[in-house]
Amino acid sequence: MVNPEERAPIDTRRAELLSRLAPIGPLRVDAVAAPGTAEMFRITRPADFDRLLDAAAGDPEQNLPYWAELWPSGIALASAILRQPEQVRGQRVLELGCGLGVTAIAALRAGADLLITDYSAEALALSALNALNEAGVEPEVLRLNWREPSQELLHSAGSGFPIVLAADVLYEARDVEPLLDLAPRLVAQAGELWLAEPGRPPAARFIDVMRERGWQITSERYPGPWPDPEDNRKGVVVGMHRLTRVMGDGAVGATQASPGPLCREGPCRHRGGQA
Ligand SMILES: C[S@@+](CC[C@H](N)C(=O)[O-])C[C@H]1O[C@@H](n2cnc3c(N)ncnc32)[C@H](O)[C@@H]1O
Repeated sequence: MVNPEERAPIDTRRAELLSRLAPIGPLRVDAVAAPGTAEMFRITRPADFDRLLDAAAGDPEQNLPYWAELWPSGIALASAILRQPEQVRGQRVLELGCGLGVTAIAALRAGADLLITDYSAEALALSALNALNEAGVEPEVLRLNWREPSQELLHSAGSGFPIVLAADVLYEARDVEPLLDLAPRLVAQAGELWLAEPGRPPAARFIDVMRERGWQITSERYPGPWPDPEDNRKGVVVGMHRLTRVMGDGAVGATQASPGPLCREGPCRHRGGQA
């Protein structure tokens, strides 16, 4: 984890992060608007997705480099934060699956005390760079496989974060159970999980089970527009769900219903996938 007290001056730090990112090849910068707000982000991201796919071929978890894309859910979650910054200001906030850091920038601009996590070390470095460029500060970072949560994560969680952010993290059926198990270990009693998702079956299953387990859920719809014209053509609408952990609800070890059979679906826009 990065100790905020030991952070190098911004230019040196930027150079360090860029040098760490050299293996992923050329970078490009995309402008992203947060719908429903006047805020913009300039997001540095990899220019060559196929190179990342080739590099991911040997990944033991068979994770594809989805972190390198700009997803409507991350942008919608950023909008939700920027429309009510007082909800996260001064709060200890955790983000799961930060990707390129769009949501993280919004949380930092709103004044959150933010810890970002991702499976990909490159995603964490790019999120740190984007946060530094666009919010003027870096979040704490922690590499994480949520299928095997580390003691370091659980130690950071303590009695739970008041707010946990997650955008488009439920696109594979194999992640529903681990994230159902993790949610009550990461979210404090009376705390909230803010989940943005574009209508994939694993997310719907997760939400149904969380409701069965007593979490209270309110939802809004974010229709865009999104930076990728293809997402607008397909009419992608993001559901922004706030799942509140009610006092005494599904704490660790509580009896829980089996989620049953699940659909398999990936978010890839490349090689035949769908958003
Ligand atoms: C579809 S992307 C969404 C990224 C970002 N939240 C957004 O909306 O733009 C999913 C993210 O989850 C991360 N991820 C996937 N599997 C993971 C795992 N097992 N543990 C931690 N992070 C994971 C990916 O690396 C990626 O950054």
